[in-house]
Amino acid sequence: MNRFIFVLGSNWQLSIAELDNYLKYSQNKGKIIDYSANIAIVEFEELHKENYYVNKLMEIQFTLGGCQKIAKIFDFIDIQTIQDAFPLKIEKYQYVVRTRKKILNIIDKILVGKNLIFPKAYESMFYAISIYPNLYDEEYYPEVLVKHFLPFLNKELMVCLKEKGAVKALYYKYPEKNIKSGNLNPIFPHIVIKYDLLTENRAEIIFGFTEEGVYIARTFTVDDPNFKKKIDEERPFKEFKSSISPKLTLMMLNFLNLFENRENMKILDPFVGNGTILLLALLQDFQIYGSDIDGIKVKNTIRNLNWLLEVLEEEIPFFINNRILKVDVKKLSSHFEQMDGICTEPELGPFYKEKPYYIQAKELFDTKLEPLYNDFFGEAYKILKDKGRICFISPIINTIDGNDVQLNIEKIAEENRFKLIPITNPNRFFSKMNPKLQFREKSYKTLIDAKKGQIIKRKIYIFEKNEDK
Ligand SMILES: C[S@@+](CC[C@H](N)C(=O)[O-])C[C@H]1O[C@@H](n2cnc3c(N)ncnc32)[C@H](O)[C@@H]1O
Repeated sequence: MNRFIFVLGSNWQLSIAELDNYLKYSQNKGKIIDYSANIAIVEFEELHKENYYVNKLMEIQFTLGGCQKIAKIFDFIDIQTIQDAFPLKIEKYQYVVRTRKKILNIIDKILVGKNLIFPKAYESMFYAISIYPNLYDEEYYPEVLVKHFLPFLNKELMVCLKEKGAVKALYYKYPEKNIKSGNLNPIFPHIVIKYDLLTENRAEIIFGFTEEGVYIARTFTVDDPNFKKKIDEERPFKEFKSSISPKLTLMMLNFLNLFENRENMKILDPFVGNGTILLLALLQDFQIYGSDIDGIKVKNTIRNLNWLLEVLEEEIPFFINNRILKVDVKKLSSHFEQMDGICTEPELGPFYKEKPYYIQAKELFDTKLEPLYNDFFGEAYKILKDKGRICFISPIINTIDGNDVQLNIEKIAEENRFKLIPITNPNRFFSKMNPKLQFREKSYKTLIDAKKGQIIKRKIYIFEKNEDK
């Protein structure tokens, strides 16, 4: 079976949108054939046929912002069989025992051997089981999968490995209290690295659930969270309260659809701030350009970029100072031209510690943000290449006395000859029974990135320069 599990980031809709877009437009073409709120199942057109496809998977992992792990699938068990073997309440005991045996037979066939989870039996073997449920808030996860399925797998796999020749077989032990309470996270990428689970005699084995059944896979690549964290936390200039996350930044860069020849692609962030977007764009090999109305921010960005180049042990290119400029967004076209893409988080208004009144938010939009965004789109049209894209964040402000307030960005962009590109294409997805897993009408066009209780939410838009008008 040449299918892969992509473990999604915490904003799963956005992660799926990014992945689907990547599979449609990058060189590594493929399709999402099934998904849950935690995983997507991917079938590639060609990638799996290459000898060194694991290297390709590592590249994909590095490129995507919303992918925690990639695992190769070895088999699939339909949901009915799983529920028969692990029901919420056991009624027919014999039947349960029989179906569990059936499951073990399936696992037994994919565990050890050429092109299987473990290529052979080693003297000493180690595994960590990660179970990704369809949704964390379904009762089935804490009550059955964590309390019964996980211990079953831990024990039976050990027996199986010993039967196949392992002298010592150990498994990763989750804290007992988490198992008892059913409050358990599958292992995080840094644990995969810490426990060396990408080496041949050690493995993370993923049991990834969807509404259809469970996919059994071995992890091949993981996100390196430490590096992104380092960029976020150790750069000389940062503003935690307002910064956009490295993961969201990567996703936004990918929505520009510039997957080939990144080293020749010119990317601009005209509201550069402390330079988060440019730091990640540099890491992704783009030609970076940036500007800000605030000279101090321009200096901060340059210092941050120099810091990153030092960390990467790369030479500081002479052009950095000439490409990060103090410019009001109104005047972009006097300084930049022929950009391949614009990726930006503009001025979103003040950092509110408490919710503002509706009237305050409305005034901010009408007097400040709307004219500013209008200037931006007007200038962006002049400096972007044909069909060039903009990935743009716009604020949604939660007010005390009204509901959420936001601007009609689509209208502003249209008036400046940009067309909205829907961020997801629901026709490319298998439909789901659970409403929580369906891509609803409103989320087709844009998606929101926000933590619970956040006053300003970020709404992500993709626009394309429209040559027709
Ligand atoms: C939300 S911040 C961008 C933060 C950035 N993403 C980061 O990682 O630090 C918005 C930036 O827009 C800049 N700005 C505000 N009005 C501007 C204008 N008219 N032209 C250019 N930049 C402007 C502000 O100085 C601020 O640095």
